[in-house]
Amino acid sequence: MKTPGIHARLLFAAFMIISVTSFTLGCIGVKMLHGVVESQFEERFQFLARYLALNSELGILIDQRSMLARLAETLMSERDAAKVMIYNSAGERLAESFKEIPGPYVTVSALVRLKAGDEESRAFFWAPLTPDSKDTAGIIGRVEVTYSTFRIARLLRGVTLRFVGFTAGLAALFLLIFYFISLSLVSPLTGLAQTARKIGAGEYGLRMTPGGLPETREVSQAFNAMLDSLEQSWKREAAAHREMARQNLLAEMGKFSMMIAHEIKNPLGIIKSSFDILKTETSEDSRRMLMGYIEEEIQRINGLIEDFLSFAKPAKPSFQPMDVNRMLEEFLDRFQRLDSAKNIKIIRRIPKTSCLSYLDRDLWRRAIDNILKNAVEAGNGRGVIHVDAECREDAWRVEIADEGCGIPEDLLKKIFDPFVTTRVKGTGLGLAYTAQVVSAHGGTVFAKNRKEGGAVFCVEVPREPKMVDLSNGDGVRG
Ligand SMILES: Nc1ncnc2c1ncn2[C@@H]1O[C@H](COP(=O)(O)OP(=O)(O)O)[C@@H](O)[C@H]1O
Ligand SMILES: [Mg+2]
Repeated sequence: MKTPGIHARLLFAAFMIISVTSFTLGCIGVKMLHGVVESQFEERFQFLARYLALNSELGILIDQRSMLARLAETLMSERDAAKVMIYNSAGERLAESFKEIPGPYVTVSALVRLKAGDEESRAFFWAPLTPDSKDTAGIIGRVEVTYSTFRIARLLRGVTLRFVGFTAGLAALFLLIFYFISLSLVSPLTGLAQTARKIGAGEYGLRMTPGGLPETREVSQAFNAMLDSLEQSWKREAAAHREMARQNLLAEMGKFSMMIAHEIKNPLGIIKSSFDILKTETSEDSRRMLMGYIEEEIQRINGLIEDFLSFAKPAKPSFQPMDVNRMLEEFLDRFQRLDSAKNIKIIRRIPKTSCLSYLDRDLWRRAIDNILKNAVEAGNGRGVIHVDAECREDAWRVEIADEGCGIPEDLLKKIFDPFVTTRVKGTGLGLAYTAQVVSAHGGTVFAKNRKEGGAVFCVEVPREPKMVDLSNGDGVRG
């Protein structure tokens, strides 16, 4: 699950604080208002009940019921009064008046007492008329007033609703304000992340726009300063890299030129001395032999240049789908027809099933040929070559083993480097070319010596095309 960011957390915290606070305060306020309004209402009706009790004294004394009924009627004109009852001390109902209004109802009562002298105020003394009431002196009756709290409840409901609406509006307003505040805090951070991402994707010239707040402005400026210094060091590094590449190229060119010059010098020397002798030589046999030398050396120079050209300017593979097991069989058939392989026995272990892969056939023919030629040379044109092929799910693997002299240990690591040769007439470009082709197909090649004598070359190439830069030495494992 994605962890919520600072913005969401700030908003959530603000929402919780604001809503809990306003809800709690709102509840307390509404509750207090309810209490005050309800007690005011009750007090008013209690006062009315006591007032009625005071006025009913005479009516009860002389049992004047019509007068009491009028008094009750008068109180009924009160808007919320639902029922008024007047009883004498025996509990007999002397007057009653009521009207239909919706509930809920609350009943308050007051005792009717005989006034003693000037203590009129005592009549306002109120106590519930209960059978076990101790102070029963002078009690001649009781009035009961029932009132409805429907109107006040409706009023309070309206007030509560308005209050809830008001606090919700206030909370929303606070949240909105908080949203913009937290946005102004968080947006420089998201901007920073976005800029860093774009710079990572290659837009090196991009910089942060300084924010409005002093702190975020400082962060942006520090970030930009860091990018400036990074850019400068990148530029310095790129320039140093270019210079190094140029120096390497010059050194490589110098090395190759020297090697080529050296390789060509020997045959040229033979050609020149043969030619010098030829000028004065009269014997036909000697002349034929010398011309044979010259032709052979010219061929050698030609072969050297051809090898070098194919190594120095390798063709880009044009991948074609083919059954590589059959392709290998054809290469071997063709190779066996060569004069040099006349006395060689090739033992093949190539699956009869097809192995579809994407390769450049011409490049692979020369690459495999180079390994086979070396194997023949290692066995002095005789012996056995074992060729094993294996078709894996994602790769094709070939092993070419010979029973020749094997590869000297110190040479094992560098036989794939150009111009590494131990043969008098070798160029040292054969395996370098093979490594290049394998690498261009995204594969690997390595050589090792066999326990039973001879060398083995293992080639592995992915069955799906995989283009690789030809200029590096990828694909060769020592
Ligand atoms: N099958 C092999 N057995 C022994 N040594 C080998 C074998 N293949 C290659 N080498 C060694 O690797 C060197 C480089 O081979 P290569 O690049 O084909 O150049 P070249 O054949 O022109 O010498 C050879 O000179 C030889 O010493
Ligand atoms: Mg060779």
